[in-house]
Amino acid sequence: MTFTVRDAVRLYGIDGWGNGYFDVNARGHLVVRPNRDDVAVDLMQLVPRLKAKKARFPVLVRFPQILANRVHEIFGAFGKAILEFGYSGAYRGVFPIKVNQQSEVLEPLIAAGRPLGMGLEAGSKAELAIALANELSDDAVIICNGYKDAAYVRLALRGVALGKKVFLIVEKPQEIGLIQRVSEEAGVKPLIGVRIRLRARGSGKWEKSGGTEAKFGLTTQELIDAVDQLKGTGMLDCFRLLHFHVGSQIPEIKRIKAAVKEGARVYAKLRAEGCPVDHLDVGGGLGVDYDGSNTSYDASMNYSVQEYANDVVYFVKETCQAENVPVPTLVSESGRALVAYHSLLICEVSGQNSNGEGEELIVPADAHEGLKGLFEIYNTMSRKNHREYWHDAEEKREVLMGHFDLGYLSLRDRALTERLLTLIGRRALQFAKEDRFLPEEFEQLEKRLITKYIANFSVFQTIPDSWALDQLFPILPVHRLDERPIVHATLCDVTCDSDGEVDRFVDLRDVKDSLELHPLTPDKPYYVAICLIGAYQDVMGDYHNLFGRVDEAHVVAGKGGGARITRVVPGDNADDVLKIFGHDAEKMVDAIEDMAKAAMRAKKLTRSGANEILAEYREAIEGYTYLDVNG
Ligand SMILES: Cc1ncc(COP(=O)(O)O)c(C=O)c1O
Repeated sequence: MTFTVRDAVRLYGIDGWGNGYFDVNARGHLVVRPNRDDVAVDLMQLVPRLKAKKARFPVLVRFPQILANRVHEIFGAFGKAILEFGYSGAYRGVFPIKVNQQSEVLEPLIAAGRPLGMGLEAGSKAELAIALANELSDDAVIICNGYKDAAYVRLALRGVALGKKVFLIVEKPQEIGLIQRVSEEAGVKPLIGVRIRLRARGSGKWEKSGGTEAKFGLTTQELIDAVDQLKGTGMLDCFRLLHFHVGSQIPEIKRIKAAVKEGARVYAKLRAEGCPVDHLDVGGGLGVDYDGSNTSYDASMNYSVQEYANDVVYFVKETCQAENVPVPTLVSESGRALVAYHSLLICEVSGQNSNGEGEELIVPADAHEGLKGLFEIYNTMSRKNHREYWHDAEEKREVLMGHFDLGYLSLRDRALTERLLTLIGRRALQFAKEDRFLPEEFEQLEKRLITKYIANFSVFQTIPDSWALDQLFPILPVHRLDERPIVHATLCDVTCDSDGEVDRFVDLRDVKDSLELHPLTPDKPYYVAICLIGAYQDVMGDYHNLFGRVDEAHVVAGKGGGARITRVVPGDNADDVLKIFGHDAEKMVDAIEDMAKAAMRAKKLTRSGANEILAEYREAIEGYTYLDVNG
């Protein structure tokens, strides 16, 4: 049966997680539709153009148009809900800077959000410094979350003095006194918000951010005490915003509804107590459907952006109506949903491990008797006896290895033993899979025998959450999508860490422990894309084995169908990462030079040999940290 590009779309679940931004064209190439329309950027055609622009691989490709498209989708959804439910308040979404602090991301995001009144959320002084320096619309709000010191509070107050709507969010009770003191000293009336701990919590990996034991926020008693404290010092009129956040990536809409209902009720009760609070900030948590299953699984979400906006608007309005209080200005802090889609990594597969696939073995006549026994097992294994024979083979292997330990087995026979056992294992597994139920020992065997493709990237730099939290990201070939992918493989990175491997892949019904890929062809590069990595991953990556930041390219789709590479931002060279960790590259070069001179004096090296060593050392230190796969 032929394999078509539509089969590829189905196999990799592109219609699900792609959310209209990803597709496959007739050439079998992965394409990106930054505006979710007919204009598509062919990623495979981009590869030589990126190389011509001196972008080195692996390369991170950003689509600023996707950022703008996401802003419009989320603001559009709230606008629509406000109209539909006749909500008399406004919506002021903010982008949480922590989700991606890169200026390359913030600039297009802020530009797209400015006409819509989009604001920013900061979680530290440095992030607040960014928020204050950017030109936002007059309506936009700036939310200051995170624990604070006097300098943080002062900086926020300077923002207020500059005419910006900067809200200081009280995360713990002591911050009230701090804000009172610093604002008195600065002579600036603060805008105060209070984060509360809801009973409601999210679900999934970030569930701990919500609930009554959460790290941030005030309990109900602390909230009441805060109100009394502000009243007592004549500052109650500064209390203008109520905030909650029950966790990132909330997969279930019922969790969001519960949080919004509870938060809205607290808001309404505060109003009834005479608090002038007039903003309700529902935090982040709007999900991204990383596996495209549209379910309540961790990596997915069982609702749409529109449903999210509808629920926030509807339940706040309903609660306010029931309590007979005015509706608040709505603020949300969606980060992941705004930026996850906009970037992907293209990396090249540089090889694979040997796991006996397609291998034939001949056991020589003079081989060890035990080896001949193993070979016999291999040749006579059948569907009926595969389990028993596999156990026999394992036992024989132990005996043979015991002989090796005592010096009775040659190194060559040991190699043959290992290879034979792999082949027997493959055959046993093949038979085992023909049965309805796969016993656990064969599940384990399957994992051990899986093909490993080695790709030129670092899990720790590019997708740290895959390592730290088992988060799933869609990964698929960039080309050959009109050809059946017959290899099932995991993806190993180039770090020297066995954790640097992706062995969980998105699937509509399950999580796959291998990815369907194509057989590698000698001398022909094979590229895969790691998608939806624009949220959190960009800034949380680390320098394991000193693999640094990757080169970046910004790509804009033109109306006529072409794509423009508007910018290439070089990543780290080795000397950049060495500097981060306190090494002085120049001193290191000097040290090598001294060694070369000493070797010349001792007549162990000629001048040209010494110069060559020095030039190569310099080149290594000034080069990209990733492999030059084709070099
Ligand atoms: C207070 C706060 N707001 C907003 C966010 C962003 O959440 P998300 O990226 O899920 O929208 C976070 C992240 O967890 C957060 O802690």
